[in-house]
Amino acid sequence: MVKAVEWVDDKVRILDQSKLPLEVEYIDCTDYQMVADTIRTLKIRGAPAIGIAAAMALALAAQDIKASSFDEFLDRLKPVINTLISTRPTAVNIQWAMNRMEHMLNQNRDRDVETLKKLLIQEAKAILEEDIEVNKAIGLWGAQFIKDGDTVLTHCNAGALATGGYGTATAPILVAKEQGKNIRVIADETRPVLQGARLTTWELMQAGIPVTLITDNSAGALMRKGEIDLCIVGTDRTVRNGDVANKIGTYSVAVLAKENGIPFYVAAPLSSIDFSIPSGDMIPIEERPPEEVTLIRGQRIAPEGVDVINMAFDVTPAKYVTAIITEKGAFRPRDIRKLVIPGINLSDIMIKQ
Ligand code: MRU
Repeated sequence: MVKAVEWVDDKVRILDQSKLPLEVEYIDCTDYQMVADTIRTLKIRGAPAIGIAAAMALALAAQDIKASSFDEFLDRLKPVINTLISTRPTAVNIQWAMNRMEHMLNQNRDRDVETLKKLLIQEAKAILEEDIEVNKAIGLWGAQFIKDGDTVLTHCNAGALATGGYGTATAPILVAKEQGKNIRVIADETRPVLQGARLTTWELMQAGIPVTLITDNSAGALMRKGEIDLCIVGTDRTVRNGDVANKIGTYSVAVLAKENGIPFYVAAPLSSIDFSIPSGDMIPIEERPPEEVTLIRGQRIAPEGVDVINMAFDVTPAKYVTAIITEKGAFRPRDIRKLVIPGINLSDIMIKQ
């Protein structure tokens, strides 16, 4: 299985996704700034994967800290946490991972600093391992929505490369295949960074899933021709009312799906759900450099100096989402907020086919 990020020999090893699919190259990060830079420059991307990389970066930074007390140790880690969170604002997973690492430290505040350093490495590795299990559970819940012979449209890359492994949106597809269903995927190329063309097709071909690449603006025409049975996408941040932030263009896919009577599913690990925000309007949307739009692999395709809008993500309102598939089951968007109600019986609100 392809690994986007790993802890190897006290370094953070990152598969350089900016070079895929033409070259498979790894970057061994020896300090947290190097990891932060790979996140900022999309060498590693995808919400869960950047959360894992940030957790490992924090563990790496901790190894060089000299502190004589818990409070001093935490104080020294705070700027590192802030730097990592600032690398990419839309995906909530970095914040989620930092909260989890800090919570673990607080639970162990009586331990000595050298022990805390080891615990940070352990916790970061646990976040990676758990993410793979979470994705497999999403796969099992999600596969119920895929029938033998279906064609699934996906946008961007929410596969193994965007996670610890197995992927979120790709997990139901992989499980459906394991169940013996004959399925086909249509991958939007996903301008401007082309995660669909470069990464999703590469991954799915390796997994033996028939995949067809389309330009982003072909999705509506194919839906109208009856060639798409369902859509499954990932998410960078889903919020309490079920609104979903994902790669720019997801909103258009969702609206087209509704217009054509096609179900639109979002695969969302709980680490991507921000229960603190009531509506999608409050999600910070990352704006990226204009060169991502005006250049393709360094080649200029638009006039020098042209004005550019380059929002990396958009928000799909909950009304366009058929179900949100988590590791705990699939739910209607309006029920997502109930997942954190203490004592709730999830099977009462779960969607079953
Ligand atoms: O800018 P990216 O490539 O990090 O954006 C990634 C996406 O939008 C994915 O679809 C999303 O993170 C889900 S990843 C499981």
